[in-house]
Amino acid sequence: MLQSKDLLGLQNTSKEEIEEIVSLALDMRKKLNSGEKKLPDLREKSVVTLFYENSTRTRVSFEFAAKFLSAAVVNISAAASSVAKGESLIDTGKTLDAMGTDVIVIRHSMGGAPELLAKNVKAAVINAGDGVNEHPTQALLDMTTMQEHFGSLKGLRVAILGDIKHSRVAKSNIFGLNKMGASVTVYGPSTLIPQGVEQLGCTLAKSREDAIRGADVVMGLRIQLERQKGGLFPSLSEYHKFYGVDKDHLALANSGAIVMHPGPVNRGVELSGEVIDGENSYIEDQVLSGVAVRMALLKLLCENRRK
Ligand code: CP
Repeated sequence: MLQSKDLLGLQNTSKEEIEEIVSLALDMRKKLNSGEKKLPDLREKSVVTLFYENSTRTRVSFEFAAKFLSAAVVNISAAASSVAKGESLIDTGKTLDAMGTDVIVIRHSMGGAPELLAKNVKAAVINAGDGVNEHPTQALLDMTTMQEHFGSLKGLRVAILGDIKHSRVAKSNIFGLNKMGASVTVYGPSTLIPQGVEQLGCTLAKSREDAIRGADVVMGLRIQLERQKGGLFPSLSEYHKFYGVDKDHLALANSGAIVMHPGPVNRGVELSGEVIDGENSYIEDQVLSGVAVRMALLKLLCENRRK
């Protein structure tokens, strides 16, 4: 049982709750792989996706997840809603509540926006990424892909490379993987590593090679140009040369190591094209886990509402 009506981040989600979501997501993956795309679980439920920032993977996978579980689903982008006329987040949430919405999935550029919404609505709120704070469903789908591949998360060594400072994906993964008994090492340009990053629960490597050596999972992160004012590294080609991952770097990882990336990928920047398309790449598998984990979460949060 999930303890809260909402899923706002993994910092405050227990190991048992993560286990429950990942375990149900693995079942959902099996159903998706066998072509089951019309399950009755959420037949009388309604889901709204409320996106104040761009998205392909997260928004589409939530919509598919809700539809595959037979829920009614409506997608709202801020630009096409009354938000563009000046309506506040809380008033938007109360309007959706008044229509009987069961779950609101929100992505917002402000860290803490999902929490603010959750405190002011009866609907369950899922954080689909808030500023540089957390992206819990991305980390849950990442852990689902890792668990499916390795059988367990305990003892896994995960290297996360790139723009750690602006990455909500890195933070959620560090919080979640630590709880599940995996260890996380990070590396990137010093300008893109937050001060005191170790306090999040990870090790800061001295070099890209040190980070990758002995890793079971090598995860690249997108350079978030939209959250930077520039000047944090000289050019994209130099970024790749000094911080990107190509086939030679991957050879330092454990045999059987997998490559992951939350997407969207800047091809040839964070990872070389050869690595993205190579046999160790699980980037497309992550997308499948994305639909499965969101089905699992919608089901569990809606079950809570029936109690
Ligand atoms: N990984 C991720 O959040 O991708 P989108 O921005 O496409 O949703």
